Parts: sequence; structure tokens; C-alpha cells
Amino acid sequence: MTEASAPGKLILCGEHAVVYGRPAIAVPLASVRARAVVEGAPPGTGVSFEAPDLGRSWSLAGAPDDPFSQLATTVLDRLAPGRALDLRVTLSSAIPLASGMGSGAAIATALVRALAAHLGVMLPPEEVSALVYTSERRFHGTPSGIDNTVVALERPVWFQRSNDQRPTTNDQREAPPTDTAEITGDQRSSFVVRRSSNPAQQAVIEPIAIGAPLTLLVGDTGVRSETRLPVGEVRRRREADPARYEALFNAVGAVAARAREALAAGDLAALGGLLDENHALLRAIGVSSPELDQLVSAARAAGALGAKLSGAGWGGVMLALVGRGTRERVRAALLAAGAVRVIETEVPAG
Ligand code: MEV
Repeated sequence: MTEASAPGKLILCGEHAVVYGRPAIAVPLASVRARAVVEGAPPGTGVSFEAPDLGRSWSLAGAPDDPFSQLATTVLDRLAPGRALDLRVTLSSAIPLASGMGSGAAIATALVRALAAHLGVMLPPEEVSALVYTSERRFHGTPSGIDNTVVALERPVWFQRSNDQRPTTNDQREAPPTDTAEITGDQRSSFVVRRSSNPAQQAVIEPIAIGAPLTLLVGDTGVRSETRLPVGEVRRRREADPARYEALFNAVGAVAARAREALAAGDLAALGGLLDENHALLRAIGVSSPELDQLVSAARAAGALGAKLSGAGWGGVMLALVGRGTRERVRAALLAAGAVRVIETEVPAG
């Protein structure tokens, strides 16, 4: 039996604009994880999946087009070509689905890690990320790649998709297989660039410096929202009014750049103000909701340094940056304002 896990994620700054080539910052949410367990199964039974948290069980042969079946097929074809394997895969997740915390990317990452480990293969995180990206495309159509990146690397990242990969009206291209990904790392500057002959995956990914630890409270509205819906609506709105949306995306990108400086300097007050600015821009983009706005306002009124929605929006979660003195007050305010759960996470300095 082989078990592997992967964390959830939070977008600190830059969601949506990141799909259009602007930079964004994401951090892993280590305290809530998805798990995959792979075990041998009786001969001739093939590959089967149990996913109690998704309320589903299926066989690879019976549902070959299921995104997790497709991901497992890609991994097995790559790591055990020509072998007919009999496996039972159990997928579970403490990350609420469609909540903006990267549940899909985390389950997919845990699945890739567990299958690889079961086959005795150590896949580097960049390769795991590239495999999960194909699965994200099946779920969302035009993901930027930030979710699979931060989940697989499990460290705070600065992510910027190559400009020529911004979605266009007819951008429904299917990604070719990911076995072409080429990773280069520069140890001196700890600068990581991911290049790929698959143009849909070109991005600059840099580990970011965190000058002072961050305590974040994540308030869950309890409203489930599939990423592809707000992402699709933003695409339609941008097509209808490109000048307005390009200006909004530029403003979000500028906030992300300033947030990176504030993070490096450990300037939590400046970071808090930038989170507030980012939320205002996300409202203008049209991806907030009354429930998200209510939690954001409640967090600020209770003394949070800043607060914003996180992820695709229209539901899901918001995050609040808190100091030691205000943490419990903000938590209570979020619950009183309707949060169905509050998750605390610390991003360590480094
Ligand atoms: C979702 O976590 C973040 C979005 O920017 C979509 C994406 O980057 O693929 C809304």
C-alpha cells in the first residue's frame, strides 16, 4: 500500500489577472490536505477508484474519460508502459470542493504522487505539476497553471504565465502530453523558470522571500462555486470590454508586484492594504459575492490588517491577514458573519 498527500492552496494576490499574463502570488495551505492510497487489487480487476469525499466510485475501464481516470492513464502509460496493472485507488480530501482552496489540484497531485511512489518512481515536483496541469485543463479549460504549481512545489510562489498564452476567444486548445517539460534552476538566485515545448505551460515561477511570518485566517462562505464558471464569465466580459478589463488586470498585476515587495520586507501593514486593494479590484472584475463581501468587511472591522476573496470567487473562501492580538477577534467575527468554517494557516518566514 502506498499513500501520498498534497496541500490545498491560497491565492494571496492576482487571481483572474494571472490567466491573462499578469503575475500572482500563491501559498500552500499545509493544514488541509488531499490523500491518495494505492493498493494492489486481485488479478484481472484493472484500476478502480473510491472517492468517498466526492461521493463516487468508478473503474478506469468503465469511465476512461473521467479526469482522474485520464490522469491515472497518463501517469501509468508514462511510468509503466505496456503493463496491465490491477490497482485500487482511494482518494480523499479535507479540502472542501469548489471552495477556492485548490481541492482538484490537490487530489490530482496526491494521485500522481501515490501512483509514482507505488511504481517506485521519484517524480520531481515540477514534473508532478506538469502532469496535474493537464488534469486542471480538463476541469477548467484555461487554467493559468498557478494552482498545480503551488500545490506541487508546496512553497510560496510568484507565478507569471507567458504573455502570449493569454486566452483568446477561441482558446480551447487541448494541451499535448506533458512529457516535454524542461526545468531549469539557477541555484545562485534560487530562480526557477519552467519552460516547455508545450506553449500552454510556459510560465515564470519564482520562490518568493517572506520577511516575516504571516498568519492568515481563511473564512469559508460555504457557497460552492466551480472555478470554470467565474473564469468563463470574466473571459466573456473581457471580450465585451477589453480596454476596461486589461486596465483592471494591469492594476491587479501592479498590486501583486507591490505585495511581493511588502512580503520580502516583512511589512505586514503594507501587505494588508494591498490585500484590500486587490479585493476592490476583484469586485470591479465581477467575481465577488455578497457572502464574500460580508466576510471581508467583518474581518476588517474586527481588526484584520487586510482581507480579500481568494480563488475564483462567486463563493468559496476569503482570507484575512491577522496579527497575534486580533486573531481570535477576527475568527469570531468571521463565524458571526456567516463563515461555515475558519481555517488558520501560518506562512513561515524564509
Ligand atoms: C483559481 O485558483 C485562480 C484563477 O486565477 C484561475 C486560474 O488561475 O487558473 C481564478
